[in-house]
Order: sequence, then C-alpha cells, then structure tokens
Amino acid sequence: MAERRLPRVAYDYLEGGAEENATLRENRAVFERIRLKPRTLVDVSRRSQQTTLFGDTFNMPFGIAPTGAAGLYCFEADIALARAAAAAGVPFVLSTASFTALERVAAEAGGVKWFQLYMSKERESAERLIMRARDAGYEALVVTTDVPVGANREYNRRNGFEIPFRLNLRNMIDGALHPRWLAGVFLRTLLDSGVPRFQNVDNNVGGRIVSKNLSEFRARRDALEWEDMRWVREIWPRKLFIKGVLTARDALRAAECGADGIFVSNHGGRQLDGAVSTMESLPEIVAAAGGRLRIMADSGFRRGTDIVKALALGADMVFVGRATLYGATVGGEAGALHALSLLKSEVDRTLALLGCRSIAELGPQHLHFDASWAPCKIG
Ligand code: FNR
Repeated sequence: MAERRLPRVAYDYLEGGAEENATLRENRAVFERIRLKPRTLVDVSRRSQQTTLFGDTFNMPFGIAPTGAAGLYCFEADIALARAAAAAGVPFVLSTASFTALERVAAEAGGVKWFQLYMSKERESAERLIMRARDAGYEALVVTTDVPVGANREYNRRNGFEIPFRLNLRNMIDGALHPRWLAGVFLRTLLDSGVPRFQNVDNNVGGRIVSKNLSEFRARRDALEWEDMRWVREIWPRKLFIKGVLTARDALRAAECGADGIFVSNHGGRQLDGAVSTMESLPEIVAAAGGRLRIMADSGFRRGTDIVKALALGADMVFVGRATLYGATVGGEAGALHALSLLKSEVDRTLALLGCRSIAELGPQHLHFDASWAPCKIG
C-alpha cells in the first residue's frame, strides 16, 4: 500500500539499498538459513514478550529505528512514530535528520525516546546537538558510525532526490498522480513549516540560528575515530549506544569507550553494499561482548520469526526502520501502531509455537542452521 501511495522519489528512498542492493537482499535471505526447533506440549497459556532494558520494561522486544526524512511519508512523521511507539510501549529513536525539531518530538510524544546522532568532527557543533538532546530529556544517545561518507544510491540521483525537498518537473507530475501524498504530506508540510527539511541541523532555536546549513554538521564526518566516542562518553550523561557495528573487534572497542550498548546494523543495506548481514555478525559479537554490552539488532526485520531468531542468537532487542514507515505512510500514527501490533502478534504466535513462555527462554536450542549459514568469525 505504501508503494501505491508514494511518488517514486519518496518510495525509492524508503525502499532502496545501495549500489547493487546486495546487502539489502542478503538482509532478507539470511533468515531462511535459520530454521526454528519447537518444543511441543509446553503450557504456554501465560506467555509474555515483555523485555527489560536498563530498568525500562517494554511491552515488546523491538523498537523503532531512527529514519531520517521520515516526514516525506506522513505529516509530522517523527511525532506520529514516537506516539505510536509510546502507545505500543516500545522505544523510539529519533533521527538527527528529522523534519521536526527534536525538542518538539520530545514535548509532543510520551514514552521512551532515544536520540540518534549524526556527529560532526567539529566538536562545537557536535556538542550543541548533544546538549540539546540532553536538555530535551532523551534517555539514550545512539551515535551512528556507518556513514563516514554518503552511500552510492543511484536511484536518488536519477530521481532528483534532495533535502531540502524540492519537486522537479518529473516529480511534480508524479506527485500530481499521488494526490493524497501531495496534499496530505508535501503541501501540508509546506504550508505548516515550509519546504520539508532537516530541523535539527538547520534550525532556529529560541530565535538563535544554531547551524546555518548542513555542511557544518556533516563537517569532516569521515575523520571521526574511537577517540571521538570517548569524548561523547564524557559529555553525555545517560545511556550511550554505538550504531553500525558489524564485528566483534568494533563491539569490544565500543565497550572500551564506555558505551552501554551497540546497534549491530548495516543500516538496512543502505550504506556499504556487500556488507555482511546483522544475523551472521551476531554470533561473534555476542560471544565477544555479550556480557559487557546490550546488543540491539536491526536491518531486514519484517516478521515476528525474524525477531525471535535474532533474540535466540543473543540480541537483547530488535529495531525496525522500514516496517513502521510503511505503516506511517498509509495511516500515520495509527498505521505505524498497526505495523507494531502485527509484529507483536507474530512474536506472540512464534513464542507459543516454539513452546516458549518468555523472551528469556529463547536460546540457540531453538535454532537449526542450514548448511549455507556462514556466521562471521572473530578477526
Ligand atoms: C534509515 N536509517 C537511518 N539510520 C540512522 O542511524 N540515521 C538515519 O537518519 C537513518 N535514516 C534512514 C532513513 C530511511 C528511509 C531508512 C529506511 C533507514 C537506518 C535505520 O536506522 C535502520 O538501521 C534500518 O532501517 C534497519 O533496516 P530495516 O528495518 O529498514 O530493514
């Protein structure tokens, strides 16, 4: 349904990967290499998928991953997604690249909210954004590290995708063919707050322009190192996650920097094409760092069984990016909540069919690996 609602420029940005889409495909294919081994005749009449992380109890073992430019998919999507997460009782991660200022999202949606940081090497601008997230009450900072440079997404170039979002002639015609999107998302945003654009990095906070343009926050992102994470750890007072980790070595470095957790992620196949899948990275990472870090997993999760497989491999929680954006595209907050509830019912059904009463009972005993399963090895 989301595909039908959206003009190509917006749909391709949501759905696409990078270059040949090799990692994008692998992210889905990998789940077929693991099968589930159920235990039968277990009383599962009182089962629960509640999950506790750092003292917060979530209704489901998954949350909403940060997605920039989400405002292309429904009006004020960042608020809609945050409210859906709050209603479902799961965490929401707001992207630095949101079309709604981080302070507004914090003020207008309850629930547990984390802030994803695209960090500049320029410490002054990085610190400004980190302190805004602190002052707005975000409970955790998620520093994304797999974007030292932009990805090669040729569809974006072909479609003329750019932020601030503009309609070229072709997109205008396509927009006119998608009137619900044109009126309900694009024109509504235009009338409400101007051309859809990033609000955290090109922003007017309390009448003060804090960053004139994107170049400042993107400045020298390709120069970031682990040393910079140590610095973030010193100035950020709450939980800290490093996002974009795919090896045991980097997981251990994250732990050494004082991170509380990591996101094992290949950015939904949108950055390094050919990158290994989250699933095949998980075993070495869990073995090396499982005791020292909370391990979040994302990239390619679409079904309850996918989520259960990652948890059985040792992930603490799973995050979804596109799944809730499909929902938000079609039905705003209610649509995103519907996507979450579909996943919830699938996880519930999977637990019952496996003979599991709780997430804690899941483990490698429930997994059977196909001959083609090739988990990464440490090194
Ligand atoms: C993303 N992702 C992302 N990650 C991040 O750290 N900051 C960001 O601003 C974005 N923006 C973004 C936009 C869109 C449209 C998508 C689809 C994804 C990556 C995201 O957090 C997550 O890693 C993946 O989306 C997970 O894969 P699935 O669930 O989409 O397959």
